[in-house]
Amino acid sequence: MARPFLGFGLGLRKEHYEAVLSARPKVDFFEIITENYLVSGGKPLYYLDQIRADYPMVMHGVSLSVGSSDPLDWEYLTKVKQLIERIEPVWVSDHLCWTGIGGFNLHDLLPLPYTEEALSHVVGRVIQVQEFLGRRILLENVSSYVRYSCSELTEWDFLREVAEQADCLILLDINNVYVSARNHDFDPLCYLSAIPPERVSQFHLAGHTDLGDFVIDTHDYPVRDEVWALFQAAAHRFGPVSTMIERDDNIPPLSELLCELEQARQLVKPIWSLAA
Ligand SMILES: [Fe+2]
Repeated sequence: MARPFLGFGLGLRKEHYEAVLSARPKVDFFEIITENYLVSGGKPLYYLDQIRADYPMVMHGVSLSVGSSDPLDWEYLTKVKQLIERIEPVWVSDHLCWTGIGGFNLHDLLPLPYTEEALSHVVGRVIQVQEFLGRRILLENVSSYVRYSCSELTEWDFLREVAEQADCLILLDINNVYVSARNHDFDPLCYLSAIPPERVSQFHLAGHTDLGDFVIDTHDYPVRDEVWALFQAAAHRFGPVSTMIERDDNIPPLSELLCELEQARQLVKPIWSLAA
């Protein structure tokens, strides 16, 4: 089955709730941070329901910790399932990472050792999560600053193998590919060429901070030219893929993000033969 193409979306942030409701901006879909809405009531759910009535939504989690050796958190997953029933997202994603161990949450999306052992561990857990949620999930590549000396596979081979063996989908963060390529000195085009197009269901774009010797994935700045260029290369390889811009710090007025989103649309319009 062909993947749905939702168009060009934004991350829904509380700073923009009122502007979205009053202006109904031209955004094709919103991505929500799942954990912000795992509550039983209050303002977040009020705004969520109002905005969901007008826009398609996708859910993006940060707490699955699919790579950890701690047991899967079924209480968390039950809440995720309830939110899925509430807002009927087009899809649900999280990250190919671990976020803690021994019950400690490190509040970061940490890279895995790319070993056969980790691969079979993650594949088994993704299969369990998908069976529980009754749907395929998307896993996102994270940015990283360290590598493990025990790694046997490249990050891109590991990501592809997880997706193929667990039969899950991929959320390809173009900025994360760029950031990790700079930090670990690999060719980002090599990464893209290893990922099977039929598995990629969404792109993320974001800004980063370039410190010369290394690059930090800060999400506090507009998308940089190098990432726009990589986005265009990805657009050629993968065809039309639902694309959204993430901004998590220094959040500007909605109008600024709408301009950036339009830039994304215009860049790939000729590549994807999109209507005006
Ligand atoms: Fe991302």
